[in-house]
Amino acid sequence: MKSAIYTSYGSPEVIQILESKKPLPKSKDMLVQIKASSATRADTMMRAGKPKFGRLFLGLFKPKNTSLGTGFSGVIDSVGSEVTQFNVGDEIFGEKLFSNGTNAEFICIAEDSIIALKPNNISHQEAAPVCDGFLTSYNFLKDIANIQPGQHILINGASGSLGTAAVQIAKLMGATVTGVCSTKNMALVKALGADFVIDYKNNDFTKNIKTYDVIYDSVGKTNYSKSRNALKSGGVFLTPVLSLNILWHSMSNPKRVKFAATGLKKPEELKQMLLELVDFFKQKQLKTVIDKSYYLSDIKKAHHYLETDRKVGNIVLINQ
Ligand SMILES: NC(=O)c1ccc[n+]([C@@H]2O[C@H](COP(=O)([O-])OP(=O)(O)OC[C@H]3O[C@@H](n4cnc5c(N)ncnc54)[C@H](OP(=O)(O)O)[C@@H]3O)[C@@H](O)[C@H]2O)c1
Repeated sequence: MKSAIYTSYGSPEVIQILESKKPLPKSKDMLVQIKASSATRADTMMRAGKPKFGRLFLGLFKPKNTSLGTGFSGVIDSVGSEVTQFNVGDEIFGEKLFSNGTNAEFICIAEDSIIALKPNNISHQEAAPVCDGFLTSYNFLKDIANIQPGQHILINGASGSLGTAAVQIAKLMGATVTGVCSTKNMALVKALGADFVIDYKNNDFTKNIKTYDVIYDSVGKTNYSKSRNALKSGGVFLTPVLSLNILWHSMSNPKRVKFAATGLKKPEELKQMLLELVDFFKQKQLKTVIDKSYYLSDIKKAHHYLETDRKVGNIVLINQ
């Protein structure tokens, strides 16, 4: 089988496609034939070993984990002797946290992982990236901010993977949504449900008089210091992107400024949130936005595109 690996930090050119034997599932594992997997900004950061302090966890001089890919969707090929919840032929999707090898043709995954049966009304390509944008933004908006109906949330980076998910989730939760994106993505953000759209190329929301209950900077392109005047009294600033500014303010003012790494949440809590998202997908209340799909063999091209900072929604890798 083919899988994507990297043995040193660097540009997308460090990625190699490896030929190896299919893994054998242990007693509580399932072998999954992957139909589609996600390629994300987090994957590019791990591959590049940036920011450099991340190497304290990833490996100081070279990556300890050489595999790539977190989200996936596929079909169960075989199951271990103690698997009880899933059957051969089931279509499942979910994630192997921290880039654990889903950019491949097959993976082994334990049945109690962050996985769910794929709803029939979404494709493998639509399912594979759900644990990046949707699961992360659901964690921020539901668990961390506890968004209430009628609150007004501003989503900065509304055209990204996390942003396109957040616009839809915030509307489902009854919030009024202002999306911030560039001119070319305004129609998309509006179509996803945003009540108001601000074009960041012509209008800096941090300098307007309008204030918000929640600011979710999904792309880390602003910070708390710049945005605090756009928060109502009692308002909260959320971001999934760590910077020195966010580190300082989230420690000194933790009720007002919040960062979290969703992957560090308890797996059973992530799984429960994934199951809630599955219900929304079944009811056609959420839609995955896909910018481009690449064959697994073209993963270097996918990583080059991810690094342009211009992707709209998600990037998917498909197996031939
Ligand atoms: N903490 C966690 O648990 C967690 C989990 C997953 C991801 N993340 C992180 O979340 C971040 C966002 O990921 P993502 O995949 O959603 O990002 P992304 O899709 O790569 O972001 C690209 C989008 O950002 C927009 N953009 C670029 N500059 C902008 C600006 N100045 N203002 C507003 N929008 C701008 C671009 O639109 P234009 O072309 O129109 O500018 C593009 O659509 C990444 O840093 C990722 O590592 C964190």
